[in-house]
Amino acid sequence: MATRQAATRTVTLRTGDARDLAIVDALMTDAFDPSYGEAWTRSQCLGVLALTGVHLTLAFVDDFPAGFTMTRSVADEAELLLIAVAPDHRRRGVGTALIRAAIADCSVGSIAKLHLEVRAGNDAVKMYDAHGFTKVGERRAYYRGKTGVAYDAHTYSKDINS
Ligand SMILES: CC(C)(COP(=O)(O)OP(=O)(O)OC[C@H]1O[C@@H](n2cnc3c(N)ncnc32)[C@H](O)[C@@H]1OP(=O)(O)O)[C@@H](O)C(=O)NCCC(=O)NCCS
Repeated sequence: MATRQAATRTVTLRTGDARDLAIVDALMTDAFDPSYGEAWTRSQCLGVLALTGVHLTLAFVDDFPAGFTMTRSVADEAELLLIAVAPDHRRRGVGTALIRAAIADCSVGSIAKLHLEVRAGNDAVKMYDAHGFTKVGERRAYYRGKTGVAYDAHTYSKDINS
């Protein structure tokens, strides 16, 4: 798919599919704090990967799995369902490479808007702000952490090709 330089490391992106489920599952477990209930189960991922319009992109740093995105497009709208980077690879541009690729994929298609949901208080918002997403809504108690505590989600959106 694409190769991008991040600091001194090489970030390689490639399209994935259900055969990459083990990689996605391992990255998911590593990346998401179970306190917040943002991560998906392996079977949720498998089910979503089978849906029309779902696209998985995997990021590798020096050939090691470092992160992934899952997006879904329906008609002229797309959603960034998940973005995750393993803690050991953070703050080195992997997330940026993934989000740029997701936006670029939308740009070459007929997608007018890219949406996402993020837990209120998640620092990932800084990355979304930097890439032109703006907050368009809130969903109360959208995430439920493993102790049963609920967390609000904020919905962000970005106009593509504007
Ligand atoms: C959000 C996430 C994908 C970012 O990945 P990353 O590879 O660290 O991102 P980048 O290195 O490309 O960071 C790009 C910029 O985003 C901002 N940013 C990213 N993570 C940040 C954090 N934890 N705190 C503050 N700013 C952050 C910074 O501005 C950063 O630039 P800088 O490092 O030059 O300051 C990663 O932290 C992650 O996997 N988090 C857990 C999963 C998650 O919450 N996903 C989002 C909800 S689905």
